[in-house]
Amino acid sequence: MSAINYSEKIPNNVNLSEDRALQRALEHWQPNYLKWWSEMGPTGAQAHDVYLRTAVSVDPAGWANFDYVKMPDYRWGIFLTPTDAQRKIHFGEQKGETVWQDVPGEHRANLRRIIVTQGDTEPASIEQQRQLGLTAPSLYDLRNLFQINVEEGRHLWAMVYLLHRHFGRDGREEADALLERRSGDTNNPRILSAFNEQTPDWLAFFMFTYFTDRDGKFQLNALAESGFDPLARTTKFMLTEEAHHMFVGESGVARILARTCEVMKQLGTDDPETVRAARVIDLPTIQRYLNFHYSVTIDLFGADQSSNAAMFYSAGLKGRFEEGKRDDDHALGGATYPILDVADGRIVEREAPMLNALNEVLRDDFIRDSVAGVGRWNKVMEKAAIPFRLQVPHKAFNRRIGTLANVRASPDGSVVSETEWAANERRWLATAEDRAFVASLMVGVTEPGKYANWIAPPPLGINRQPLDFAYVRLN
Ligand SMILES: [Fe+2]
Ligand SMILES: [Fe+2]
Repeated sequence: MSAINYSEKIPNNVNLSEDRALQRALEHWQPNYLKWWSEMGPTGAQAHDVYLRTAVSVDPAGWANFDYVKMPDYRWGIFLTPTDAQRKIHFGEQKGETVWQDVPGEHRANLRRIIVTQGDTEPASIEQQRQLGLTAPSLYDLRNLFQINVEEGRHLWAMVYLLHRHFGRDGREEADALLERRSGDTNNPRILSAFNEQTPDWLAFFMFTYFTDRDGKFQLNALAESGFDPLARTTKFMLTEEAHHMFVGESGVARILARTCEVMKQLGTDDPETVRAARVIDLPTIQRYLNFHYSVTIDLFGADQSSNAAMFYSAGLKGRFEEGKRDDDHALGGATYPILDVADGRIVEREAPMLNALNEVLRDDFIRDSVAGVGRWNKVMEKAAIPFRLQVPHKAFNRRIGTLANVRASPDGSVVSETEWAANERRWLATAEDRAFVASLMVGVTEPGKYANWIAPPPLGINRQPLDFAYVRLN
């Protein structure tokens, strides 16, 4: 059941060959995807042989097969986890009913919107990351970047399959539009604002994969609860790939911290300028990058109060993170949840109906998960006996969406005036000078086993290969 048929043009485990119209539609989309990949995928890397993991089945043994592949030849396919015939809708107004294998007419527009919004982030991140291959700090890192890029491409395929299979002509038009929007484009940008920001350097890339791919994890988990079973089964498989993306971010930042701490110890300094002069990234700059990526990412969860979020939940379209592990009534009629508001110039908590606050619930789950990893980063400084600690900023800091978009707050959560904000912004968010400094460190290191000066080697290679393995053969 779960084996993937690789002899077909589009590898899949959904019996695509039995639905000729669907197969033709996807085979028509495929060359457009490849054209988009060659134009907007990794710059100058299409001929490289990359040591990539490719899924050959959806069970634990099958989705991690490693071999050299040229990225345009990567077998992007359509993989759903197996159906569970017993599966029931387990939250919302239709709780207890059998899950849907087809889209219920009344939920069509909303499900399409949910799928398109998720689908749009996948090619967006590839576009954001397309220049990074030119300045990878090692072949190991280059390979990880490309692994993420091909998997985000596969995530796009996953959403496009749902659009083609379940949404007829509108779905096909939406699938075409996913290849037409461009990250950062003024006329036809990507849907969500974090996906129109630049990812210009590797510190930004590691912060992005730590925080923004983790937004993906939480969105996908919420969709994996969906009463629309094909969406649940698709997103479940996507989650297996997402874990690696977050690993790249977490370990990348940890390696930068390790190298910076090592140099600080050698020089016996904590002065940022001295640290920079040694060509490694000073800790306050890392904190400012963190503040930026964290605040931009928590905006992705949407407004703190949202009638759409309530409707998606009540209709059984999108659940909470780990819905099945929560022991409330899964209908949330009378439940409340604390959200932030501003009163008398201070940020205060107040209770809101939980149904309306579900974006906030998911954001808080994300925050708990993010903070745990920041704690692991701080262990690097602790071990080096350096007192500096990274911190996530307050939820109100630098927000653009929801109630908090209307206030200026410092990273510790005090409301500040425009003047105070302007006077401190350079201490709180990465500046153009910070970015220029980090950019000045970025030079591609292409010799196996060599790592750029500003980052420590990883403790282990990929798939138990040694650190000096040729993870990418440049062609
Ligand atoms: Fe993704
Ligand atoms: Fe991802």
